[in-house]
Amino acid sequence: LHLEEQHLQPETKEVNGILMSKMMSDNWDKIWNFQAKPDDLLIATYAKAGTTWTQEIVDMIQNDGDVQKCQRANTFDRHPFLEWTLPPPLNSGLDLANKMPSPRTLKTHLPVQMLPPSFWKENSKIIYVARNAKDCLVSYYHFSRMNKMLPDPGTWEEYVETFKAGKVLWGSWYDHVKGWWDVKDQHHILYLFYEDMKEDPKREIKKIVKFLEKDISEEVLNKVIYHTSFDVMKQNPMANYTTLPSSIMDHSISPFMRKGMPGDWKNYFTVAQSEDFDEDYRKKMAGSTITFRTEI
Ligand code: A3P
Repeated sequence: LHLEEQHLQPETKEVNGILMSKMMSDNWDKIWNFQAKPDDLLIATYAKAGTTWTQEIVDMIQNDGDVQKCQRANTFDRHPFLEWTLPPPLNSGLDLANKMPSPRTLKTHLPVQMLPPSFWKENSKIIYVARNAKDCLVSYYHFSRMNKMLPDPGTWEEYVETFKAGKVLWGSWYDHVKGWWDVKDQHHILYLFYEDMKEDPKREIKKIVKFLEKDISEEVLNKVIYHTSFDVMKQNPMANYTTLPSSIMDHSISPFMRKGMPGDWKNYFTVAQSEDFDEDYRKKMAGSTITFRTEI
């Protein structure tokens, strides 16, 4: 990957009221018309909800715990990131997805109303992972600091307001988790929570195994758990994004594999900020049956 500074894309543009990178927005027609297949598996998340972790779990299950096979390529090459658009000759998510032999595993951060309709038509399997708002915000803030392809987050105080207003790439966290929650029973969707995965990886990984209709031994299951633990993934260059040049992701500012702990938000929110956030949260989440744990 040879990205020049001028290829980086902090420029943004909305599509249907959702903030996107300008390149994604310009490519929107093609993204919307993407042709899904019945045997596609889609991993859908709001940014920073545990996407990469889930991708590694899924890949390990699909490859029967073969660590070597899972190290065949970077996460982002193993699982095309559907809407992510880069200037040619770099491969955009759509290019990678269209080239990939089936069965494919794909990644998206799109809010539910913006998912290409072919996924619903083909009844592709979807794993959605949700993470509590405060930890997502903290993680997204640090990621925006280190990833030069994302808009500059500004100061912490500024970013809290930007996040609450949903003026970040892929839009409002609140609408995202609620939107996917509302449709989960009408489609082939496994809806998981980051906090549950952290609390009991074995239990949650078993749910994924079942959803994928796989049958794996206890030994393989234990390998999946070990290989996808935070500490092991942090050391895995094919899963920790360190193969990208530091002009794109600067891990010295904040590593991609940063903390991986529910409740880290307490190290960032002041008491007043937290109370203010909670009050706004109650309004935005009113009427939804979804509940989150902000610590475990
Ligand atoms: P933190 O910044 O809170 O550490 P995504 O893959 O959706 O971008 O999410 C990234 C977040 O998931 C980061 O959170 C990262 O550390 C965390 N993460 C990645 N792999 C993990 C793992 N194996 N266990 C727990 N958390 C993990």
